Amino acid sequence: MKKFNIADGIYMLTLNVDDILFEGIWEIANGVTINSYIVQGEKTAIIDGVIGWDGIPETLYSNLKEIEVDPKSIDYLIINHMEPDHSGWISNFRKIKDDFTIVCTDKAAKTVSSFYGEDKILVVKEGDTLDLGNGKVLSFHPVPNVHWPDTMYTYEKGTKTLFSCDMFGAFGRMGNHCFDDELTPEEIDFFEAEGIRYYSNVMATFTPSIRKAIGKAKTLDINIIAPGHGPVYRKNPHKIIDDYSRFARYADGAGKNEVTILWGSMYGMTAKAVDYAEDILKREGIKYNKLQMPLESESEMVATVFKSAGVIIAAPTYEYKLFPPIATAINELGRKKITGKAAFRFGSYGWSGGAEKELKEIIDRNNMRWDFIESVEFEGAPKEEDLKRVEVGVLELINKIRDRVVE
Ligand code: FEO
Repeated sequence: MKKFNIADGIYMLTLNVDDILFEGIWEIANGVTINSYIVQGEKTAIIDGVIGWDGIPETLYSNLKEIEVDPKSIDYLIINHMEPDHSGWISNFRKIKDDFTIVCTDKAAKTVSSFYGEDKILVVKEGDTLDLGNGKVLSFHPVPNVHWPDTMYTYEKGTKTLFSCDMFGAFGRMGNHCFDDELTPEEIDFFEAEGIRYYSNVMATFTPSIRKAIGKAKTLDINIIAPGHGPVYRKNPHKIIDDYSRFARYADGAGKNEVTILWGSMYGMTAKAVDYAEDILKREGIKYNKLQMPLESESEMVATVFKSAGVIIAAPTYEYKLFPPIATAINELGRKKITGKAAFRFGSYGWSGGAEKELKEIIDRNNMRWDFIESVEFEGAPKEEDLKRVEVGVLELINKIRDRVVE
């Protein structure tokens, strides 16, 4: 666990977590930080605690002591969001102290009771304040459905610090510094990529609510954004707000100036056309990502398609339907509400087709509204004329993404 003083009387405790499936689903190759914050006035509050995935509270308590905070002096547990990566330590804390107050929204209050059996709860609503003394005043601002319905921002008025929990977060483990102005150019790129992975994997489903939360953040006078995952933004807190605005556009079909080839092939027939499409993209100078399913992790697949302005789906018919790993991938993109992408599909079939029908069903069922160029299907291996049709499709796709590019 690392400790940082992020403003007068405000500390961050943060833990790099590796080797987990985030939410039990997402294989996060580069880890994630879980951030907790201590605000010290005459009274002390802890915002979104962290004890680590090992569940050992002593790590937290020894770190608190190192910043001269007696864990028993903590009066308020501010629960911005009840997901257990932020709240899972409450029952452990109860073992050392029983006279604290939990501060949360009405929706969180229900789960505080059902998850942990707690009942000393101060329910707050928009604009409510809590004066900790010594100039530290917290205000509370619900941002429902970021990422669960219970979520709120906590804002410290004296230092103009926004504790945003999941909002403005990123995956990625952190080095020995935490501020945006301390990041190297490589780390800035790393956290942008990990921010995209985080948004697409965890937050994309809630994009309309995220837009509202962006609007609410803009009504606050912010010097520092201190999220529950990833770096703290003090040099330019508005950069992460702008990044999140851009990510919200990616969820609606915009993207970087790149194409993702999402492909699968049983015996190399469709793969031949993939190679051909790749050559066209190279010839045209278009950046592309190539993801073979089911070999890629779901996390990587969702993040890569999400950030791309164009998608090539290359998949054959399998048992009268779409090649299953690709069907699963498209369905997952639909569940994440990644809509409006410019797309082109091609693929092989043997005795009969069926892939196209199932693809359309998945797209329609999830209301994805992807903008498809006419698909190319070929019997067995692609012939010269099939490859020519693939080339026409790829060129049309390149043309289609031009007005969708948002870098
Ligand atoms: Fe970081 Fe929705 O929990």
